Amino acid sequence: MTDIIGSVYFSKVVFHRLKSFSFALFLFGLFSATSCKQTQLKGDDIDSRVKRLLSEMTLEEKIGQMSQIDPISMPAEQIDQAVREGKFGSFLNVFGVEKINKLQKIAMEESRLKIPLIIGRDVIHGYRTIFPIPLAMAATWNPEIVKKAFRISSIEASSQGIKWTFAPMIDISWDPRWGRIAEGCGEDPYLASAFAKAMVEGIQGEQLTDPTAVAACAKHFVGYGFAEGGRDYNTTYISEPILRNVVLKPFKAAQEAGALTFMSAFNDLNGVPTSGNEFTLRQILRKEWKYDGMVVSDWGSVSEMISHGYCADEKEAALKAITAGVDMEMSSITYAQHLKSLIDEGKVSLTLVDEAVKNILKLKFKLGLFENPYVNPEAEKQMLAPEFLDHARTVARQSTVLLKNEMNTLPLSSDITSVAVIGPLADAPRDQLGTWVFDGKAENSVTPLTAIKEVLGNAKVNYATGLKYSRDKSKTGFAEAIAAAKKSQAILFFAGEEWILSGEGQSRGEINLPGVQEELIEELSKTGKPMMVIVMAGRPLAIGKVVEKSNALLYAWHGGSMAGPALADLIFGKESPSGKLPVTFVKGSGQIPFYYYHNNTGRPANAKSWTPMDSIPVKNSQASLGYKSFHLDYGFTPLFPFGYGLSYTTFKYSDLVLSSTEMTNKGSLTIKASLLNVGNVDADEIVQLYIRDRVGSITRPVKELKGFKRIHLKSRETVSVTFELPASALEFFNGKENVIEPGAFDIWVGPNSDEGLHSEFSIK
Ligand code: BGC
Repeated sequence: MTDIIGSVYFSKVVFHRLKSFSFALFLFGLFSATSCKQTQLKGDDIDSRVKRLLSEMTLEEKIGQMSQIDPISMPAEQIDQAVREGKFGSFLNVFGVEKINKLQKIAMEESRLKIPLIIGRDVIHGYRTIFPIPLAMAATWNPEIVKKAFRISSIEASSQGIKWTFAPMIDISWDPRWGRIAEGCGEDPYLASAFAKAMVEGIQGEQLTDPTAVAACAKHFVGYGFAEGGRDYNTTYISEPILRNVVLKPFKAAQEAGALTFMSAFNDLNGVPTSGNEFTLRQILRKEWKYDGMVVSDWGSVSEMISHGYCADEKEAALKAITAGVDMEMSSITYAQHLKSLIDEGKVSLTLVDEAVKNILKLKFKLGLFENPYVNPEAEKQMLAPEFLDHARTVARQSTVLLKNEMNTLPLSSDITSVAVIGPLADAPRDQLGTWVFDGKAENSVTPLTAIKEVLGNAKVNYATGLKYSRDKSKTGFAEAIAAAKKSQAILFFAGEEWILSGEGQSRGEINLPGVQEELIEELSKTGKPMMVIVMAGRPLAIGKVVEKSNALLYAWHGGSMAGPALADLIFGKESPSGKLPVTFVKGSGQIPFYYYHNNTGRPANAKSWTPMDSIPVKNSQASLGYKSFHLDYGFTPLFPFGYGLSYTTFKYSDLVLSSTEMTNKGSLTIKASLLNVGNVDADEIVQLYIRDRVGSITRPVKELKGFKRIHLKSRETVSVTFELPASALEFFNGKENVIEPGAFDIWVGPNSDEGLHSEFSIK
């Protein structure tokens, strides 16, 4: 590698010449590009073009295509020459239309084979218009609006030359300590699959050659969300049934939706790091799923196989990665340094390299990069368009979950004469954007404080932060906060975590509210004023004490650029909250993992069997213990179940009817239930369908989500909600094969995973 870049000398003269010519030439390129017909190349055309190109490539050029680099990893003056020599097929984290067009121009005009670069970047939940974190987006249970959010992200990102995003992140996780739970869609394979599809479709758009299309990357393949202890990058042990019935599901959905790329992960899975894992990458992804897209490694994950203790050195890492099926290496350079000698020594076949290069070139052809390599500077004008911000507000609104609303404390009347706005997240423009925001700007955030002042006018808002930031342990601001509360009719407390406390590498052992926020909330509750707590965080926090002390509680996650106005809409009743939890909320870290689709145990607990710790006599009497599956202190239920979320109205479920009480394993059931909006407010309800396979060849979960619908109901309106349940949806992997087993099933239609109308059916 050192000689790849070390030998490069790019003279100042050439540089300046290039600079002065570049703009005119680039504009010419653009015009010819934009006037190009936007037709999608057919598979055959692409295959024959790839074949032809491949036959002209030297081994060095092939290895170049298989290498992706972040320009910070090399001296700036060597980059152009490296592109000219075809040393890299892709960059990540290159900024700016002019710079990208310049590099592309070198690739297109000065490199031997004129293969365009593909520029990748993490656009995880918005580019400049920032949407709520993905976990929050999953709380909308509305794939359509999320698809549109990702479309907007692609429009903005592609206008900057980004044609490949490392999203969607669709790792299932059962562990809120894991910082990256913020980036995924929660715990459930069915819900995450619906979002995986929507996100891929939104990112890629309808036509891959459209200038706004961006290649999606389903990541991290696979199992990364099961890091032991929630410590990021940690070892994962996942049984094959859990792998296939849970963890792989959203990835399959992403593949079926046409995800152009997949990313191998950092984690060691059952003893084999996933970036060198032939079972997951070759057997499952390529052979079983017949995936014909491209696989990129995660950042440095190929060379990290040395630390894992799976490879002795970088050469072995390159060998294991390519053998497993990693086509492109991100950031580390083991391919660049060792593939050639591995081929010379006969350890890697040229066919393996050609397969990888084919996948990479196909991607570039599919995106139309050979025809339209340049970015149109005009496209930038679409950044932060009012309709984009409006959509961000809608998504933030629908992602917010009402967890408590004692005596209809919420919504507040906008005629209220004074309100105290308190808390470290009330006016934290960067923090509300959440983790994985590279290009969004705090200056484009509208905070809750600003939005509330907008509704009520400055004079009615008594603002006191109380705590400078979430981890602040100083109580010096308490007095001012209490004074603000005392002179107000109601308290709005914005609690939570800053963005830096969740995301990659940001795992926590305890998942309570950091600092002395709970103490301040307790002090404020003593004022007797109605108190609404709004939690803005990147993970489901253990907020039991806050729930007790507050009169109403909205879980708002990190809601993005428009979190403030979205929350004001809900607080003042412009719209009813409608989000539902995409993840189980635990009472404390000790309850983890707690997911609703667990198996039943031989000793399931119930309210009668639980012996609360405090009720155990000091002189222990064995007879008083339950001997069931629970914690003496936490009990056996979570703080809030998966799927839970309240509304400003009440919904009544009735009349569950099944088209039949039995079906064959090829059949289908129609399920109907009535839903009545009992209250005075128009609102959305998310109706959920769950089943339980009572007896299986391996034990089966106590509940599994198999359908959901977001329904809008006017006050007093009744609708009939219909679900189709094909028997194929009951298929599972039993350790040996996929089966749909005959026998009895429970079925529920209801508002969350814990409640609902019940019926039963059987498979003959
Ligand atoms: C993350 C990936 C990300 C990559 C590139 C890694 O550290 O795990 O999710 O796409 O960096 O930024």
